Amino acid sequence: MNRKQLIDTYIAFFKEKGHAVIHSAPLIPEHDPTVLFTTAGMHPLVPFLMGQKHPLGKRLVNVQKCIRTQDIDEVGDETHTTFFEMLGNWSLGDYFKKDAIAWSWEFLTSKHWLGLDPKRLAVSCFAGDDDAPRDDDAANVWMSLGVPKERIAYLLKSDNWWGPAGSTGPCGPDTEMFYWAPNDDHAPKKFDPKDTRWVEIWNDVFMQYNKTNGGKYEPLAHKNVDTGLGVERVTMVLQGKTNIFEIEELKNILTKVAEITNTQPTPENIRSFRIIVDHMRAATFILGDERGVAPSNVDQGYVLRRYIRRSLRHLRLLGMDLSKMNACEEIAKVVIELFQADYPILHDRRTFIIEELRREEEKFQRTLDKGLKEFDRIAKLGKIDAQQAFLLYQSYGFPIEVIQELAQEKRMRVDVEAFQKEYEKHQELSRRGAEQHFKGGLADASDATVKLHTATHLLGEALRRVLKNPSIRQKGSNITTERLRYDFNFDRKLTAEEIRGVEAEVNKHIKEHLDVQRHEMTLHEALHSGAQSEFGTRYPDQVSVYTVGSFSKEICGGPHVANTKELGRFKILKEEAVSAGVRRIKATLEAAS
Ligand code: ALA
Repeated sequence: MNRKQLIDTYIAFFKEKGHAVIHSAPLIPEHDPTVLFTTAGMHPLVPFLMGQKHPLGKRLVNVQKCIRTQDIDEVGDETHTTFFEMLGNWSLGDYFKKDAIAWSWEFLTSKHWLGLDPKRLAVSCFAGDDDAPRDDDAANVWMSLGVPKERIAYLLKSDNWWGPAGSTGPCGPDTEMFYWAPNDDHAPKKFDPKDTRWVEIWNDVFMQYNKTNGGKYEPLAHKNVDTGLGVERVTMVLQGKTNIFEIEELKNILTKVAEITNTQPTPENIRSFRIIVDHMRAATFILGDERGVAPSNVDQGYVLRRYIRRSLRHLRLLGMDLSKMNACEEIAKVVIELFQADYPILHDRRTFIIEELRREEEKFQRTLDKGLKEFDRIAKLGKIDAQQAFLLYQSYGFPIEVIQELAQEKRMRVDVEAFQKEYEKHQELSRRGAEQHFKGGLADASDATVKLHTATHLLGEALRRVLKNPSIRQKGSNITTERLRYDFNFDRKLTAEEIRGVEAEVNKHIKEHLDVQRHEMTLHEALHSGAQSEFGTRYPDQVSVYTVGSFSKEICGGPHVANTKELGRFKILKEEAVSAGVRRIKATLEAAS
């Protein structure tokens, strides 16, 4: 079975169990400031896990494109990538542990489905702590299905709990499934979760708590199931391979890298190959996302820049002469070719992907050689301090992990924390800091973001009215606890008077204390009724539409405030160009005076 057949089989299995298919959400979340990227299929479903009714019902299934930058240090081994596809099924207050586990088992082991060898399967369950009890219920279901006691491990929150790390939201204990990857039929009787030959393939989360601002775990209104099966890893075991880079898609990308570098993989250089394969696939998908961004020095654009630059450094390490060819572009073309049938947006954005890669590569190539020379000069002095590391970053565009890697190769160390202090002194970045920008960027979600989200709807409508241009639409949005950022199509700078006009229009409707309401309908009905939609987004057939009084009407997944009186005073901080024909507004809400 190949990747595509696995995806189709999984979807067919859960359709048979009454699940509706939902689309993969964009990689770049619109109004979830707790993450820079969608790390799991549950992210876009948070409002529904919290109790909101989903238009497609209580049972959902999909395949989701995910990025987990927090796994970056593991890339290079047999089973980790930062970009991956995840199959998932959800119960929104419907079935719970017994069915979820039984279906996982049936799908994995039944000859009608994957037919994996039950003797090579093991599971882990939550061991229990002060917040929640040991999950004997889950273990009992596994045993009733024939999983021997010795194949069940009990682990703490760090392993068997899914939920908001240091933040708020739905969460709960999980049970994970592992497969004995070596092709030797000698899976040990006892499951040792520390033995990496047991590869985690699937996770069933029982989302029954809400982690509050104060760090308490309160029971949710209803109990949910959220599962995630790693497409690359399961394809790997189905094909009897022992590393994910041998499955067709990743292998094709790796072969391209070998071709353009004119170098064959060896145990010594394989890590570089795998890093390039992962990073270039991730970079292609970020550029080719529904909300695709270009390389920059902030947020997702900065992660993208680092993916590209680190790849270039490793290409050079493999002996490639970067002046001969636009390497990234050659690799990206293979990625697009492989995945465009399932993600047509990659095809739609092909020109953008290739142009941005070319630009970034040319930019970095101008400084890479000089920077490497400078690094060697500094290294000869015996020490790389934070100022020197910062110079390499600032003058030669070296991302910190490239500097770290270079140092490691010389058996030297860079003080990353000191570098970050130096970096923050120079950058006007948000308080989250450089490290978190790459490692997932967790911030605390709060009421503030919900308010700013509702303000975004008011802003869109105010722009259409004040600028007398009904064709203005959202081209992207990003909300943090401090501000909203709204991109829209418009071909010139706004005048000071227009900006004041837009502000006044939004504030007028805030003062009118308008009710915000949610309605479910078909996409056709929604568009027909004049509901606004975002550029470049593929909506499902059933959507929810939010209205703010009779002022604004938009297709949107929420969440929103109940009434505009909660918003305070709206203030525009900045209006600027993003690209030709696209403007950006940053705005905030202040306490009403
Ligand atoms: N959200 C869970 C995970 O990604 C299923 O592991």
